[in-house]
Amino acid sequence: MTSTKADIDHSYSLSNEFFRLWLDDNMHYTSASYITGEETLEEAQWNKCRILYEYAEITPDKLVLDIGCGWGANLAYLVKRGVKRAHGITLSTAQAEYARARNLPGVTIFLGDFFEFEPPELYDALQSIEMIDHVVSPEQANQGLAVDLYRNYFKRCWEITKPGAFFGFQAILRDRVPRNRKDLEDLKFTADVIFPGGLNPRLEELIMAIRPYWECLEMRTQRTSYRRTTAEWLKRLRANEAIIRAKWGDRVFEDYDRYLSTCVRAFDSYWSSDVQMKLRRCDEAL
Ligand SMILES: C[S@@+](CC[C@H](N)C(=O)[O-])C[C@H]1O[C@@H](n2cnc3c(N)ncnc32)[C@H](O)[C@@H]1O
Repeated sequence: MTSTKADIDHSYSLSNEFFRLWLDDNMHYTSASYITGEETLEEAQWNKCRILYEYAEITPDKLVLDIGCGWGANLAYLVKRGVKRAHGITLSTAQAEYARARNLPGVTIFLGDFFEFEPPELYDALQSIEMIDHVVSPEQANQGLAVDLYRNYFKRCWEITKPGAFFGFQAILRDRVPRNRKDLEDLKFTADVIFPGGLNPRLEELIMAIRPYWECLEMRTQRTSYRRTTAEWLKRLRANEAIIRAKWGDRVFEDYDRYLSTCVRAFDSYWSSDVQMKLRRCDEAL
């Protein structure tokens, strides 16, 4: 079983107000891209959007789909860049409500499972920012199904795009396994308690799975950017400790503190990384 609607609501629908306290102003819940190292979290999040905008070769007249659009932060960027029509899909009810309430001109938000989504028309460009970590469960990976299931995702992406489409894709990666029990327990806690049903892909699995539907033209990894992003989230979470404990209870604060501290350590220690890819649709090869 991969992340179900209940899993997704557990991970993302706790409370929009809670996430608003420690994410950036626009509610990006994925790695920012620190380029100069001098940026604020907010500026680094726009860097990420710009990179993925360029990777997807978006222009204002193109119809774009953001798969796993969260609270609509990247869609807000598209509108800022003059994109006239964009769609977003999320499996989280609270995110869909929040994204719709932004009233972004030309933007339609779909609430539902991407794998059951029948788009009203084909897309010129795709973007997906760290949704693929919900596509394969740890049990499925143990059964050797990961590459087939990721390929099924990329096939669906191929089916809903027009020839000539580009895809700006970002994924959190699992690289190395820690050696000591405490670190393993913290990672297991993050997987089981914060993101049930999810699993970060390995880079080599993604490289195998994109073919024969997409080819990777460019790729950049940004482990240290994710370290800085999660460190900033942790700082903001702690700055709001009293409010969080009062409103959502000690357990929520302590769980999120443990999860974000584990993330910082995971990026510091090379257990995890993050990748951005520029993918081009293979139109002729099939
Ligand atoms: C880590 S969040 C990233 C959100 C957003 N892209 C961002 O950058 O902030 C993962 C997103 O994937 C969505 N998601 C996961 N599985 C999904 C599915 N099967 N169909 C649609 N959305 C899904 C979640 O609802 C959530 O919005």
